Amino acid sequence: MAHNACVPDSDVAPQPTALILYGGTGDLAKRMVLPAIYDLFARGLLPSQFKLVGNGRGDVAHEDFREHIHEVLTEFASEPEPEQWKAFSANVLFAGGGFKDDDPGSLLEVIAEAERDLGGSPALIHYLAIPPVAFEETTKAILTHQLNQPGTKAVYEKPYGSSLDGFYALDELVHSVFDEEQIYRIDHFLGKEATQNLLLTRFGNRMFSDLWNAEHIEQVQIDVPETLDIADRAGFYDATGAGLDMVVTHLFQVAAEVAMEPPLSMGAEDLQAARESVVAAFRPLDPAEVVFGQYRSYRETEGIPEDSTTDTFAAARLWIDTARWQGVPFLLRTGKKMATGAQRVSLVFRPSDGPLHSMGHIPNALIFDLKGSGAIEIQLIVKKPGPDVVPAETCTSLNLANVADGAMSPYTSLIFDVLDGNRSLFTSSAGLEAAFKAYAPLQGDQRPKVQIYEDDSWGPAAADALAGDTGWLLR
Ligand code: BG6
Repeated sequence: MAHNACVPDSDVAPQPTALILYGGTGDLAKRMVLPAIYDLFARGLLPSQFKLVGNGRGDVAHEDFREHIHEVLTEFASEPEPEQWKAFSANVLFAGGGFKDDDPGSLLEVIAEAERDLGGSPALIHYLAIPPVAFEETTKAILTHQLNQPGTKAVYEKPYGSSLDGFYALDELVHSVFDEEQIYRIDHFLGKEATQNLLLTRFGNRMFSDLWNAEHIEQVQIDVPETLDIADRAGFYDATGAGLDMVVTHLFQVAAEVAMEPPLSMGAEDLQAARESVVAAFRPLDPAEVVFGQYRSYRETEGIPEDSTTDTFAAARLWIDTARWQGVPFLLRTGKKMATGAQRVSLVFRPSDGPLHSMGHIPNALIFDLKGSGAIEIQLIVKKPGPDVVPAETCTSLNLANVADGAMSPYTSLIFDVLDGNRSLFTSSAGLEAAFKAYAPLQGDQRPKVQIYEDDSWGPAAADALAGDTGWLLR
């Protein structure tokens, strides 16, 4: 479990550390990783002896990279406070010329420079914020140039593999360079405050923990519609699609977080084991219970082939073969260019048996809003004010930001865990293998046909049927 952000005096990774950020000037680094690293620094959560080494193909001077980070922070976080910035930027370097087997560019020299500054061999963290197609080349280069000494850590972005076979091939290569304990496969949905709250809310509150099963829960909806399109990353997206970008990754991991059996403790190993063992119980998706869609204007996007059949929408009914979840569908939905943007996990309760039974089923639900600092909502039946005894539906919401100061972005939280050596919120090799196995039926001849949906809509009508009579709570 990620550390609470309010404690700035933690003894994090006390040894000198150099974090090498591959793709240092790329989009992911800009939006997520660099702001998170600076945030850790500002909170006093980076090791006191720390170097950030950006890597990329271009020849960028150290000073230009620092300037780039300053701009990024100003755009995506807030303008750094001058004194703090001065202290941080003094520890930022850039190694240009790429990093390959046969040509390491300037990275080895820059690491040597960092070593001299730090006065000894730093622990290395390789952060691969690069497109998945480049994982193999960079991993091989790390081996060739012997940057995988014991104590080194490697962070891989998603998707880690694009099919079961692709996963096996990549994982074999990565394991030839690092031990499993050195590998951090990041899925930032697991780092969200509200996702982490799923466990605390469930296990900390008897009123929920006792109801967390098929006897009381009718269905679980994991719904992540997005309004944005893919214009700024056409190449990556067309080769990936919604299923790989979101379902086998984020949505599966969140489903596992909801569905896990109680871990033996809240310790890192027990939590990871509990999450991953439930992924192994995911029944392989049935293509007849999956709807793939593509928004109408997708093929007009620059860089997208006009006959592309990439899915920009996916909805699926997932079944989990554990006694706890017999007969309870986990409804997963996500898509680009949809009517609204949200990230919600809803546990929909069965209708109550008592005297209100005949008045129709208004669903009770416990809802986790994963966006931003997160919220927990309870959808309840109450009496409609007035002379008659009539049920009315109402919703109450707890904004998690109001619980205490110190919420962290998912990347801040997860990079802290990397420094701290805590792998509880990272996927293991066995867990990802199970996820790809459950997703595999959608990748062969049985892949559902992609149905066109209107821009800014709720996706193909066929997806509505997956949610049965209750329907999607968001519509
Ligand atoms: C990323 C996906 O991992 O998550 C994107 O590649 C998606 O397609 C994004 O938009 C959603 O993340 P966030 O930051 O909105 O939670």
